[in-house]
Amino acid sequence: MKTPEDFLVENGLPEVRDIDRDSLVAAFMSEMERGLKGEPSSLMMIPTFVGVDGKVPAGSKAAVLDAGGTNFRSGIVAIPPRVENRMNRPMPGARSPVDVESFYAALASEVKRVLPGATAKKIGFCFSYPAEATPDLDAKLVRWTKGIQADGVVGQYVGKELLKRLGGGEIAIVNDTVATLLAAKATEGEKTYSSYVGFILGTGTNCAYVERNTAIEKLPGLDPNGKMIINAESGSFDKAPRSKFDLAMDAKTATPGSNPFEKMISGAYLGPVGLEVLKAAAKEGFFSKAAAERVAGLSSLETMDFDNFTAGAVKEGRQNPLDEIFSARADAKMARRLSLPVFERAAVFTAVHLAAFVIKTGEGASAAAPVAINADGSTYYKTRAIQFDETVRRELDDMLVKRRNIHYEITPQVDDAPMVGAGIAAML
Ligand code: BGC
Repeated sequence: MKTPEDFLVENGLPEVRDIDRDSLVAAFMSEMERGLKGEPSSLMMIPTFVGVDGKVPAGSKAAVLDAGGTNFRSGIVAIPPRVENRMNRPMPGARSPVDVESFYAALASEVKRVLPGATAKKIGFCFSYPAEATPDLDAKLVRWTKGIQADGVVGQYVGKELLKRLGGGEIAIVNDTVATLLAAKATEGEKTYSSYVGFILGTGTNCAYVERNTAIEKLPGLDPNGKMIINAESGSFDKAPRSKFDLAMDAKTATPGSNPFEKMISGAYLGPVGLEVLKAAAKEGFFSKAAAERVAGLSSLETMDFDNFTAGAVKEGRQNPLDEIFSARADAKMARRLSLPVFERAAVFTAVHLAAFVIKTGEGASAAAPVAINADGSTYYKTRAIQFDETVRRELDDMLVKRRNIHYEITPQVDDAPMVGAGIAAML
């Protein structure tokens, strides 16, 4: 009889000890190089025109918008870092399609609400989608991710369009990875870091890091002595092997083929990948007849439920469909055994992802000045099925410290890092 592990491997979901970390890191590095040169690459490697050397003015307050995954937040960011007058609404276009005017109307109304409390001239805007950055910190949306339905906005300069509807003003738009990097840099105190990586693992995933201007060959003419933050858009990395479950899930998304790496590790997708695993396993005969029938009837699975079930945890006030489907003990045990590798792979891929960016900074040679990794996002910090953070650290200790003598530190989490970072970008 085939084991569940054999079944997963046969379908392309590896046991974590067999993941070839070195060749994945190498593939990441070569995609980064190509992207920086402007050659075809799955990594956009977007120059952001944001450096890390500015001094944040104490006492300043900036009006800030934060368009993340499914949430749209607004508030006032004050220094020392805190968020005042905050509001959290659903992201326009997350639940149902919106047209261009309603999209900007939702943004404009929040700016009007918070602007009177600001002292900084610029509005800060954390915009967590792939967008080309301009030297004056506007953002041209390349495409939506995370299932946002607002087609008319694609290709627009989001800042310019918003300011038009506000009747003027100034704005600084940064990606959430860039904002997270800036926020941690601004709150590091007396620590000495040789470089920085900003990392998000929430609904989606992505990395930003600090690069020498001379390496950004697709943008000649920059100050050769300077450095700037690069937004890699690493969720679209396409050199990591995908399983049959990933392909089946991807085919059902609104954006098949796009962001393959993100679809293997981030919060919007772990549940849906898990659903494909459980459905295929049911067909293969791994569950009782009753459970198999119930799995076949399940049309969607949220990551939160998949995670809680795999962790054997109950969330107060929330019914988990998997608890009912796998009500028999043997079924539940089997289902957990099949589910765990989805999370284990996500953690190892996360570590590979981070290792590649730390190496790319070219820093971290001394333990006295490690490369800071500023991590944010619900999937990174709230996953319960495995000890996510510990697994990532263990992997990084091996890949970076032991084997390459490169030192890193995952910095303490900064509260509201994306908003705070966007506020800082507006103040600098
Ligand atoms: C977006 C990135 C963002 C990441 C994390 C991805 O889907 O393309 O711009 O940084 O999610 O929020």
